[in-house]
Amino acid sequence: KKRELILAIESSCDETSVAVIEDGNQILSNIVASQINSHKRFGGVVPEVASRHHVEQIIGCIDEALKEADVTVEDLGAVGVTYGPGLVGALLIGITAAKSFAWANDLPLIPVNHMAGHIYAASFVSDMTFPAMALLVSGGHTELVYMKEHGSFEIIGETRDDACGEAYDKVGRVLGLKYPSGKEIDQMAHIGKDSYHFPRAMMKEDNFDFSFSGLKSSFINLVHNAEQRDEVLDNHDLAASFQASVIEVLVTKTMRACKEYNVKQLIVAGGVAANQGLRSALEASVTAELTEVELVVPPLRLCGDNAAMIGAAAFIEAKKGHFASWDLNAKPSVTL
Ligand code: KG4
Ligand code: ZN
Repeated sequence: KKRELILAIESSCDETSVAVIEDGNQILSNIVASQINSHKRFGGVVPEVASRHHVEQIIGCIDEALKEADVTVEDLGAVGVTYGPGLVGALLIGITAAKSFAWANDLPLIPVNHMAGHIYAASFVSDMTFPAMALLVSGGHTELVYMKEHGSFEIIGETRDDACGEAYDKVGRVLGLKYPSGKEIDQMAHIGKDSYHFPRAMMKEDNFDFSFSGLKSSFINLVHNAEQRDEVLDNHDLAASFQASVIEVLVTKTMRACKEYNVKQLIVAGGVAANQGLRSALEASVTAELTEVELVVPPLRLCGDNAAMIGAAAFIEAKKGHFASWDLNAKPSVTL
């Protein structure tokens, strides 16, 4: 049987990444060049800085991905690329590189939605079985996505304001942590206690939507009021209390969604899927209440932005006959 090899490119935000994927579920290489150190001092990703880094990194990443996979251009069957959502300038670098590479080497081009990519990181862990529910939690998104089959995405609930990762990063700034602060808050939360009780927004409402801006505001107010009274708060307890609120809402709504839609699989995806507290809380709830549901959580290195997940999603798109023409453009705010 001939190997089906896809070269995948991801450049939607602050990682330049190129991967070579075999048959949609084997990673031959997955090069990730992070620019995070260039953005840290600004407290967030600066779009223009991101684009310039992608330009500098992309060619080297393609060469390295082919070398590490030990394949040549002739072995490849297609090129997959993220076309959105993301930063327009950043996306354009990946798209332009993918188009040029595909055109020069006579390969078909496959357009991939970045969020579909996050979900398809699951296919490196387990075969996807349907119907499935995906909890997508990243720096820009918080969504519950129902999938009745491959490539079919129905957003049944989403955040009305801040994304979950965004709330982590904003709270982290108040605690004086470096951007992005999700991982550090997660670590602090394991030392602290849930002693400051924060609100659990929309938990009792009969829908699958989320809200994190109220939680963020009550966190900021608590810290500022304490500062004015010269009162010292315990940062570890603050982190633990914030994280307890986030996890309780995410887990409650996700469990409810899985039951209502009677799914076979629950996929957790996106940067915040790396959260240890969230991973163990979901594992405990699924084990206790949904014995027939398989929980699929990608390994940590595949939770953040990477091209391997884009290659996995590209494989499915190609099977469905979804190819791009040479006028493929960036779609910064495309939805699933
Ligand atoms: O998916 P991602 O790498 O980029 C986007 O597409 O947004 O997600 C990045 C987000 C950041 O907000 C970061 O703080 C958060 O994921 N994050 C975490 C953890 N690791 C990364 N949030 C909570 N706990 C973590 N362990
Ligand atoms: Zn992402």
